[in-house]
Amino acid sequence: MKLSADERSALIDLATEARRRAYAPYSKYLVGAALRTKSGKLFTGCNVENAVYPVSICAERVAIFKAVSEGENEFEVIAVVTSNGGSPCGSCRQVMAEFGLDTTVVLADSNGRVVQETTVGDLLPAAFTPRDLPR
Ligand code: THU
Repeated sequence: MKLSADERSALIDLATEARRRAYAPYSKYLVGAALRTKSGKLFTGCNVENAVYPVSICAERVAIFKAVSEGENEFEVIAVVTSNGGSPCGSCRQVMAEFGLDTTVVLADSNGRVVQETTVGDLLPAAFTPRDLPR
């Protein structure tokens, strides 16, 4: 999916705004995500950490789970904003892969600079997806 410059920057702005709500007192690595569904709906997420560290959740999964819980599971694009344009973790890649390998992933830094624009399939080659389960 080819994003226009306006669409890209609107999603990065939303993810930047969500990043301000990150609860990351332990790592201090603030992450914001903005997800657009195929139906055009927008969902945002931020990372939410916990004193029991492994209970923490990433911004991408918050946005995706919010969307799914609202009945949306077809995604066009997710933008992720961090201080340095960092790449999604393996767990988030797997969760993204569940809903389609063609979803565009835009990684931007806190100045709004795009560090990478890719797809879920490129981020997680040879993904195990629902198609791999025997019916
Ligand atoms: N984190 C995200 O929210 N998304 C990513 O793509 C990478 C990592 C969070 C998890 C944790 O709260 C903090 O960043 C440091 O790993």
